[in-house]
Amino acid sequence: AKTRRFLTIKSASVSPMAEDNEGTVKQQLSKLFETSLRMTIPDEPDLEPLVVKCTGKFGDYQCNNAMSCWAKVKGKKTEFKGPPSIGQAIAKNLPESEMIESCSIAGPGFVNVVLPNQWIAKSIQKMLERGIGIWAPKLPVSRAVVDFSSPNIAKEMHVGHLRSTIIGDTIARMLEYSNVEVLRRNHVGDWGTQFGMLIEYMFEKFPDWENAGEQAIGDLQAFYKASKLKFDADPVFKEKAQQAVVLLQGGNEKYRKAWSTICEISRKEFHQVYERLGISLEEKGESFYNPYIPKVLEGLSNQGLIVESEGARVIVIEGKQIPLIVVKSDGGYNYASTDLTALWYRLNEEKAEWIVYVTDVGQKLHFEMFFTAAKLAGWLPADEKLYPKTSHVDFGLVLGDDKKRFRTRSSEVVRLVDLLDEAKTRCKAELVERGKALEWTAEELEQIAEAIGYGAVKYADLKNNRSTNYTFSFDQMLNDKGNTAVYLQYAHARICSIIRKSGKDIEELKNTGTIVLGLPEERSLGLHLLQFAEVVEEACLSLLPNVLCEYLYNLSEHFTRFYAECKVNGTPEETSRLLLCEATAVVMRQCFHLLGIVPVYKI
Ligand code: ARG
Repeated sequence: AKTRRFLTIKSASVSPMAEDNEGTVKQQLSKLFETSLRMTIPDEPDLEPLVVKCTGKFGDYQCNNAMSCWAKVKGKKTEFKGPPSIGQAIAKNLPESEMIESCSIAGPGFVNVVLPNQWIAKSIQKMLERGIGIWAPKLPVSRAVVDFSSPNIAKEMHVGHLRSTIIGDTIARMLEYSNVEVLRRNHVGDWGTQFGMLIEYMFEKFPDWENAGEQAIGDLQAFYKASKLKFDADPVFKEKAQQAVVLLQGGNEKYRKAWSTICEISRKEFHQVYERLGISLEEKGESFYNPYIPKVLEGLSNQGLIVESEGARVIVIEGKQIPLIVVKSDGGYNYASTDLTALWYRLNEEKAEWIVYVTDVGQKLHFEMFFTAAKLAGWLPADEKLYPKTSHVDFGLVLGDDKKRFRTRSSEVVRLVDLLDEAKTRCKAELVERGKALEWTAEELEQIAEAIGYGAVKYADLKNNRSTNYTFSFDQMLNDKGNTAVYLQYAHARICSIIRKSGKDIEELKNTGTIVLGLPEERSLGLHLLQFAEVVEEACLSLLPNVLCEYLYNLSEHFTRFYAECKVNGTPEETSRLLLCEATAVVMRQCFHLLGIVPVYKI
């Protein structure tokens, strides 16, 4: 099978900061250990250094290679007596480096490394001087597609789409920060048999649709429901609707125009939500790929992958009970034919190396099936460690208080806009109660209520491991205590106020001041700050935004401990500590940014 080369060339959009980027602490240590391993076990030149962050009292990082090295040399002629002696040799052979304070061996040959306070401090200062961009992790891809949100035309954009929209946006933001060029794709469901019914209904109800279509239809969901009722009840209408599909798909001009009128109304509604959530994405809906389907399927047919089965054309997937249907028995295409074609397009026309799909876990089988088909066709390497590759980012349900699927009191699907409205209203009421309406302008009150409210909705979702279901609760997410965005916004605003109240020009301090990590609380805050880069790397590679949320919450806890022990204003350590405050605020803001949350500087 042909596989495209694993590209490491960076796109032109890389910020100049990237030149200063030395990689994460883990990557830098790994390089040192790699050199040491080659010297220690010269017969095994391909040993991969296993470096992990540790929380123990022995060190900040640990290299765990001794055991596996022992397994390789045991029984052969060797100077080593067991893993501990290998550990010792690995430590001894480490190249001289200013990032290592000391090394010690623990247990069965673990090599523990302590980073020097000064080095940690210097790295933080460098970030403050040159910007958080220098902490961007380096990822093994330069262009990715993130396929997310992807609602269906004429159906409501409900709380299920909320998850896809915000999880997808965060993943896109994390990749973008890591200098990956991201094609944000809205794979809107804008093609399919439901359009026959919608179009026919529009013709009947609004003969003047060409002039008054958008205004007349108004609420598209109600329109959808009404046309579905008619479709189910009236056989003559049903017949007409089915003919409409044929006319539409055959390219009939009138039907095409009606179709695009309906799509346009939906598009406007979706757009309002995206705007409120600060989300940008480019629509390439199902219809976009439609013209390419015959050619792509022909290619697969020529490879002998497509076979006839009960009148349909299918790809047989080993180990699955049903095959992947790519042409239905009536000759029409389906979700899978479109997705296969979209994948082909993304690989060949858009040259994406990583294609990430964000949908609920209910679609797991669909993705498994067509990913396998793409491997059979040789579009993707079978080895998942290689690129180009595809990933399905699945997520669980949003539940209500009753632990059932989240619904309104009247059992309706909850609309996304209503949720956002309520989050904002509740935040505003809270701020007014705290007397903020007197302190701030009306505009500030609006903006801050939105930042806190929408941020709370996003964070409440993102902080959970996405594969689990979670319970939607305004009371919980808007609490200013515990692991919530509201708490974190307060924590950040408080740091900003400490800096403001000092009366010092922080920009100037960045150039003239020095960070000194004297007390243990200062050191652990500093180390945690420095670990930001590897957390983003982990969150990107595992496609788990909750990893970043956890880091952010821990950061605020580190800061609280620091602030409890270390007086800032008016002490000899003031400059250093103000710089630590600033670095914490910068990293918190970057976390907020990656999570799609607008930071608030004062509350
Ligand atoms: N429109 C689909 C739905 O609402 C989601 C599409 C996801 N993307 C994809 N390439 N299949 O279920």
